[in-house]
Amino acid sequence: MAASVGSMVSSDIWDEAAAASYADDSADMFQPDVVGQTVGFLRDLCGDGRALEFAIGTGRLAIPLRRSGVPVCGIELSPAMVAKLRDTASEEDIPVALGDMATTVVPGDFALVFLAFNGLSNLRLQDEQVSCFSNAARHLRPGGHFVVELFVPPLRRLPPGQTAVPFAMDAGHVGFDTVDPVTQSCRSHHYTRLPDGSWRYDVGNFRYAWPAECDLMAQLAGLDLVARYGDWDRSPFTTESSKHVSVWQRAFTPG
Ligand SMILES: C[S@@+](CC[C@H](N)C(=O)[O-])C[C@H]1O[C@@H](n2cnc3c(N)ncnc32)[C@H](O)[C@@H]1O
Repeated sequence: MAASVGSMVSSDIWDEAAAASYADDSADMFQPDVVGQTVGFLRDLCGDGRALEFAIGTGRLAIPLRRSGVPVCGIELSPAMVAKLRDTASEEDIPVALGDMATTVVPGDFALVFLAFNGLSNLRLQDEQVSCFSNAARHLRPGGHFVVELFVPPLRRLPPGQTAVPFAMDAGHVGFDTVDPVTQSCRSHHYTRLPDGSWRYDVGNFRYAWPAECDLMAQLAGLDLVARYGDWDRSPFTTESSKHVSVWQRAFTPG
């Protein structure tokens, strides 16, 4: 992934190599039961309305959601990720605007805007995350929902003096996060073993946000928290949850 130096956006830009290896690198997230549960959750919030996915990527969720009958649009920063999506879904089937999800506006209003798989953390500045919530709210029809899937910052696993938290350690993949609690910045490091036995190194840059900070950003955007789960299966969010699936709603009437 290349840094977006010189761009107005702080996010890393996912290049062709990242797009090509995305499905393999995130194989757990492509498991049919994971995708099925997520899509079912999202579809239940759409009713007869349309859905907009921020950071739509290669269409891991958007394509099955579209196939379930929901009209879906997307916003995505990476041309390479959209090119991969286009292997399966046409622009007519799933329109995608190339741009930053914090600022890009697409036509129409939506019953659902969603941002899955830690997408919010790709925005590395608090201002951008705040804008992302208002951009979601801007696209929602009254009563519409904004759904975010985001990791809980792993600071409980960071003893004093330590800066790295491992999240994967097996023969084919070693991964760890380095975290700076002062700036809320986080780097995810991955060493992935290739078929020829060599190792590939990738790093991604993120800004972590607590659930309470998300609620404040939602409040600033005029959205109310209506549900928070520990996962797409609607399990309770607890002190042990490593992620949350949060649902905010735009009021039916102004004020
Ligand atoms: C982990 S992938 C998730 C893709 C898809 N939502 C999914 O669940 O499979 C993160 C995506 O966020 C996109 N992205 C990162 N920063 C972005 C931004 N500021 N605006 C729009 N998309 C962004 C990346 O290009 C990448 O496609």
